[in-house]
Amino acid sequence: MNILILGGGGREHSIAWATKQNPKCDRLIVAPGNAGIAQIAWCAALDIEDGAAVVQFCIENSVDMVIVGPEAPLAAGVADAVRAAGVLCLGPSAAAARLEASKAFTKEVCDAANVPTAAWARFTEAAPAKAHIRSHGAPIVVKADGLAAGKGVVVAETLEQAEMAIDEMFGGAFGAAGAEVVIEEFMAGEEASFFVLCDGEDALPIGTAQDHKRIGEGDTGPNTGGMGAYSPAPVLTAELQHQVMERIVRPTLAEMARRGTPYSGVLYVGLMIENGQARLVEYNVRFGDPECQALMMRLGAQAFDAMHACAEGRLNDARIDWADDHAMTVVMATQGYPGAYQKGSAIGGLETLPETSWQMMFHAGTAEAAGQTVASGGRVLNATARAPGLRDARDAAYALLDQVSWPEGTFRRDIGWRALG
Ligand code: AMP
Ligand code: GLY
Repeated sequence: MNILILGGGGREHSIAWATKQNPKCDRLIVAPGNAGIAQIAWCAALDIEDGAAVVQFCIENSVDMVIVGPEAPLAAGVADAVRAAGVLCLGPSAAAARLEASKAFTKEVCDAANVPTAAWARFTEAAPAKAHIRSHGAPIVVKADGLAAGKGVVVAETLEQAEMAIDEMFGGAFGAAGAEVVIEEFMAGEEASFFVLCDGEDALPIGTAQDHKRIGEGDTGPNTGGMGAYSPAPVLTAELQHQVMERIVRPTLAEMARRGTPYSGVLYVGLMIENGQARLVEYNVRFGDPECQALMMRLGAQAFDAMHACAEGRLNDARIDWADDHAMTVVMATQGYPGAYQKGSAIGGLETLPETSWQMMFHAGTAEAAGQTVASGGRVLNATARAPGLRDARDAAYALLDQVSWPEGTFRRDIGWRALG
């Protein structure tokens, strides 16, 4: 098969790495890709949010299947366009991608399907939103309704913080994404993510993970896209996974089908767990980044079989062969991230790193310049490793980072602290 992956981060490098190992893969293309992906695939220049351009590219290059990495092309309807052209696609329709693109939409679906989640209310004006906050008290959670690159959520510890967030959102800090605001009850507990492939009817769990969103050690400082992740998430026991499938995933899929917008693709189920009960925090309509890197390291080549079965709507007879293993990925970022940072610094030591089914350095934000690999983004490298135990996986991931010489780079030394105790 000729396979096109849309995206250019560590998530897409790990998907490409797993797909490339599958005998079904003849030609692998990634758009736009990055310097690491370029070593295993053809990196094509393509506007990945332009459905017509993606379809044209598929026809010209005899692409059999498209895997969509990030949410923006999905919200823009790229999966609809690809499927309409008769090409297989992993990723939901724009209508189903509203599970990530609109928080109020997700809450409506949860209410209709009786899915356990935080109590909520929606507002289009500041005064009633503030009155709601005052009557409920802090802590309380304020969210811009639309896509805000992970920045549109404020977990307010005080009423003042919550009111400031309201003013910011209605003041246009997130553009159109903040025209509507959702206010939620604060949920205490431990967070974890659960990943399922869905084909409209059936759902196949493909792993659990926990990530570290804050920049600083001890989970302190500003939020980032994620500074590291590990899989499995110990808090998501087999019993809890069953509970999540029965009370959250299946009712949501049934409600989406009932609305005439069945969900097909990867569903990222963000959960809060307290006292043995899981509640939904959010859905994303794609793999998490960097959670995906840990999942792909564990799944290897069979990840593509599962994604292929999903795109063809035959998940009912798909299965995963699980090894009793653990994976961890540690993000190396440019100093300054998630604030302002410089691009273009040279990264040394990458050529001699081991590349095995146990240890891989996935590239997130790298480019090739004058024969050198340089940093081209905030999150730049994802040191990823797998082992029978999490401690060994962690040591192997950090061992990769020790071999990188990049003075402008930084990483957290404590990824996995919660699970490792
Ligand atoms: P979201 O983009 O909706 O996942 O929110 C980002 C982060 O904010 C989540 O990963 C949680 O850490 C936190 N969060 C969101 N909603 C809630 C809530 N209702 N209660 C507590 N924390 C929340
Ligand atoms: N790591 C969080 C996300 O991908 O949304």
